Amino acid sequence: MKKLILISALSLSVTALAIYSSSCTSQREIAAQKSGAELWGQNCIRCHNIPSPAAYSDVEWETIGLHMKERANMTKEQIDKVVMFLQTVN
Ligand code: HEC
Repeated sequence: MKKLILISALSLSVTALAIYSSSCTSQREIAAQKSGAELWGQNCIRCHNIPSPAAYSDVEWETIGLHMKERANMTKEQIDKVVMFLQTVN
């Protein structure tokens, strides 16, 4: 009986782990598919007003990107997309 409980507890945790890791992967995939414009609209408004692409030069956006990547906790891939978007729009 004890063995049965142990086995079912084990299989339950394996299932939970599988569900957890698959949802994690799909969320990462969704994030990877987002465009620079989307990432900009969703992330850059969390702490302050959304900055206009025209407000800064291309070089300034590079620097701001480095800074805001850390603040917004974004990946390099994500911030690169945002910076590229801001540079092409202005
Ligand atoms: C977690 C909060 C947070 C998020 C998210 C965030 N910022 Fe900021 N941002 C700040 C703070 C705080 C400042 C002012 C202090 C500073 O410069 O670090 C700031 C300042 C700025 C400035 C002014 C810089 C300057 O030199 O005057 C710009 C432009 C900017 N953010 C752009 C962005 C962009 C673009 C994003 C999205 C990628 C973003 N921020 C996401 C917190 C955030």
